[in-house]
Parts: sequence; structure tokens; C-alpha cells
Amino acid sequence: MTTHPSLLVLGGTGQTGQHFTRLALEAGHRVRVLARTPGKLRSTHPELEVVQGSVDGDLDLDALLDGIDAVVIMLGNAAAQRERQVNTTFVRLLVPAMRRAGTRRLLYQAGGLSAAPGTRLPLVLRLVRNTIARSYIGQHEDNEAVMRYLDQDARDIEWMVHRAGIGSDGPSKGELRRSSSRISIGTFVDCASYNLRTLLDDSAVHTADGSTYRRR
Ligand SMILES: NC(=O)c1ccc[n+]([C@@H]2O[C@H](COP(=O)([O-])OP(=O)(O)OC[C@H]3O[C@@H](n4cnc5c(N)ncnc54)[C@H](OP(=O)(O)O)[C@@H]3O)[C@@H](O)[C@H]2O)c1
Repeated sequence: MTTHPSLLVLGGTGQTGQHFTRLALEAGHRVRVLARTPGKLRSTHPELEVVQGSVDGDLDLDALLDGIDAVVIMLGNAAAQRERQVNTTFVRLLVPAMRRAGTRRLLYQAGGLSAAPGTRLPLVLRLVRNTIARSYIGQHEDNEAVMRYLDQDARDIEWMVHRAGIGSDGPSKGELRRSSSRISIGTFVDCASYNLRTLLDDSAVHTADGSTYRRR
């Protein structure tokens, strides 16, 4: 991985994605964003390219991946994901296209209430998922299906999953670090910053960890 890979961003108009796109451009990356509504994107920059489209529409993935070194997915639509696994369907099309294009790296943002492949959530998180967070159940099941697919069928791709525990869009609370055992309630900007750092971290390849604030 080069130090400044060219990035394709999915979900760039979302709460994490807006911060991620800005941070990536500030750090010197070329960024292509696929957006259903390009006007929602707050960043403007000479190295930013915006392509209009939907992940469940008719996409030319080969054109989208042309010149791209790494893909970052921060997609979510809880209502649609209750009906069908939108993200899994998309990732199953994206990965073969990445192979064709020679795009090797992929970061996928899931949630802390989505279990990593081959693991079970701790009891307290299972209770949260099945009660107060119940309206997001489709999103968690979709995220888990993505992780299973990546783990079982895409180990030739340098993927990493961030099982984020986001709480608010407040200011930064510090630096999030990868953790297999702890998940902090972070802010969107800290999760976006974590995603950018983790994308460039070879030791994160084939992990589906959470993130936690560094102890002060
Ligand atoms: N929000 C949280 O508290 C939280 C906590 C933990 C984990 N997560 C995970 O992080 C992921 C991102 O969350 P977020 O809160 O940052 O996202 P968000 O604000 O809900 O935004 C979702 C993004 O996905 C895009 N999108 C949805 N359907 C699309 C489609 N068919 N084609 C193209 N783009 C589409 C949206 O585009 P539009 O602007 O066009 O709608 C938007 O950019 C979620 O999947 C979730 O699993 C979120």
C-alpha cells in the first residue's frame, strides 16, 4: 500500500463519511465518492471526484474502480436493510470487480452490535441489540453477512472491518485505537479518523475489531 492511496468512498454523504472524506482530502488522498445526492457532500477540493449513483442501482464498477487503490465503505440504510441485505449484495459485486481492477484494500465500517465472524456478542450487547437497538437489527445482520463473506470468500483482498461504537456527532474525544475486546462510544469524527489510520495499517488486515479511546 502506498502512503497516499487513491480512495473510492461509499457513504461519503453520511455522518461518518462526511468527516472521512474531508480528512482524507486534507491528508493528500485523491478521493472518488459515489453518492445518490452529490449536493449533500460538504467537501470541495480539486482532488475530489463525485460520481452520482446508488449501490443498489446499475453501476459500472469497473469505471468506479479505475485508478483506485483502496475502497472505504461507510454505508447504511436501516429501513432498506430490514427488508434486504443491501450491503452484502453490493460487496459481493464489488469484490470481484476489485479483483479485476487490481484494487487490493477494503475497509468496511460495521457496528459494535454486529458480531465478528465466528464470535458471539457479550450478553449485555446482545440485550441492547434485541431491545433498545432493535430497529437496527437488519443493519447488524447485513453487516454480519458482509463479514462472513469477506472472511470465507475474500481473503485474497486486504480487508479490515471497523466495528464502530458511535454515540454522537460531537467534537473529538481523543484517538481511537483498535481493540478486539473493548469498544468505546466514539464520535463520528473520531471514527472517521480511525478509519483513515486503520486503512493504512497493514497489521489491521483481516481483522474485525472495535475501537477504544487511548487511556489518558
Ligand atoms: N450511526 C451510528 O451510530 C453507528 C454506530 C455504529 C456503527 N455504525 C455503522 O456505520 C455505518 C455508517 O453509519 P453512519 O451513521 O456514518 O451512516 P449514515 O449517516 O446513516 O449514512 C449512510 C450513508 O450511506 C449512504 N447510502 C445509503 N444507501 C445508499 C445507496 N443505496 N447507495 C449509495 N449510498 C447509500 C447514504 O447516502 P445518502 O446521503 O444518499 O442517504 C449515506 O452517505 C452503518 O452502516 C452502521 O452499520 C453506525
